[in-house]
Amino acid sequence: MTPSRTRISKAVIPAAGLGTRFLPATKATPKEMLPVVDKPAIQYVVEEAVSAGLSDVLMVTGRNKRPLEDHFDRNYELEEALRRKKDESRLARVQESSDLATMHYVRQGDPRGLGHAVLCAAPHVGDQPFAVLLGDDLIDPRDPLLSRMIQTQELHGGSVVALMEVDPAQIHLYGCAAVKGTDADDVVRVTDLVEKPDAADAPSNYAIIGRYVLDPAVFEVLSKTEPGRGGEIQLTDALQTLAGDETVGGPVHGVVFQGRRYDTGDRGDYLRAIVRLACEREDLGPDFRAWLHHYVTEEM
Ligand code: G1P
Repeated sequence: MTPSRTRISKAVIPAAGLGTRFLPATKATPKEMLPVVDKPAIQYVVEEAVSAGLSDVLMVTGRNKRPLEDHFDRNYELEEALRRKKDESRLARVQESSDLATMHYVRQGDPRGLGHAVLCAAPHVGDQPFAVLLGDDLIDPRDPLLSRMIQTQELHGGSVVALMEVDPAQIHLYGCAAVKGTDADDVVRVTDLVEKPDAADAPSNYAIIGRYVLDPAVFEVLSKTEPGRGGEIQLTDALQTLAGDETVGGPVHGVVFQGRRYDTGDRGDYLRAIVRLACEREDLGPDFRAWLHHYVTEEM
């Protein structure tokens, strides 16, 4: 496989999920819009794509996801009201999300799984490698992952997944990869993949976290991938096909991430993300940390 020479520029963000773990908050509000401190979770993900040089973002949405489109669009009425009040700093905050990236939207229609969501991106992506970012995974902006994955894809061609070592008791929540080492400490070659295995059957404790850089050959494979775990078309299964036959779309590598990641689709981790990011904010941090310290030492 010839390593890719074209700069990757497109990011795909599947965002059609129902967010049942956060009901009733997500009854009428998309889970992606839940705030992490004062920004919706999805904005962190778009910012991450943009920081890695991907300014063309396609969101794969579904019913009841209109607020996502509105969030990344202009809101002239609100902007005008803030302008009249001379509230420049809030005006800038409001404009930030609409100026971030070139946004595109496609609807998934039937919710047939992550692999199906990615397949919906095929007409937009065309024949270039592209990135996929899952909205539930929040990668701390100080621990860049995607740019390292893009670098790895440019070097080796094929596809690249993000991996993290997890407690074996947790592996059933993730796609799991069997790997072998490469010359680079943080890069492995993926030899086998299985979606959400039982701990006893897992080939390793390397979990796929929600970042992928994919060869466009994945579309052809996905269109032929039968429903797998949970009756859904699984991206992991398509990647397994790619890892097993390099003539189709090149090898699959993994970048092993050791930074900070929060699963904002999990209520406990969502709260941890908010507390940690709030503590570290220059504006909110000092007061919040003092309160938190008092709360933990005196009131718990
Ligand atoms: C999806 C993927 C899984 C991956 C996970 C990362 O699962 O299917 O392979 O490990 O994202 O967050 P989900 O969490 O959407 O069920």
